[in-house]
Amino acid sequence: MTAVRPGAPGDLGEIRAIQSACPEAAQWDPASYLQYDLLVATEGFRVVGFLAARTLAPGESELLNVAVAPDQRRKGIGRTLVMTLVGRTGGTIFLEVRPSNRAARSLYNSLGFEDVATRPDYYSEPPEPAIVMKFHSC
Ligand SMILES: CC(C)(COP(=O)(O)OP(=O)(O)OC[C@H]1O[C@@H](n2cnc3c(N)ncnc32)[C@H](O)[C@@H]1OP(=O)(O)O)[C@@H](O)C(=O)NCCC(=O)NCCS
Repeated sequence: MTAVRPGAPGDLGEIRAIQSACPEAAQWDPASYLQYDLLVATEGFRVVGFLAARTLAPGESELLNVAVAPDQRRKGIGRTLVMTLVGRTGGTIFLEVRPSNRAARSLYNSLGFEDVATRPDYYSEPPEPAIVMKFHSC
């Protein structure tokens, strides 16, 4: 059974390993997540996914990264992480995603995120624009 809890310094090694295994995810220094809202999904003692977000303004936040270990996908873990963020922050959540990232866009769409803008030349390696998505909880 998947549980979600705040991330801690002791989780950074597993977060680094998951992020490294996910080329579609933003590749941040995992230690930097500790200054933001960091959630980890666990199965027993194993960290199987993480989500990082930051507050932009009261009632407004940005989802910085979410990733699930490749062998743990399509089990609802990504959805649980994003829904936990929605439940904690409320208000409006923004994110950027590659148009080619079908799995992530499907996840966000399934939760009610909507495309609101495109940022040209946003990503490098490989170059790609970003789709800005927005979720608003009533
Ligand atoms: C995107 C990601 C976090 C989804 O995690 P996940 O735990 O596999 O997702 P879930 O099992 O919660 O899926 C929820 C819904 O998202 C959609 N979805 C997830 N993966 C999908 C895929 N590969 N293809 C199509 N739809 C997908 C489906 O609608 C799915 O619901 P369903 O399984 O009932 O059909 C995961 O694929 C991942 O870590 N990708 C690499 C990192 C990344 O791209 N991060 C996003 C950066 S913006």
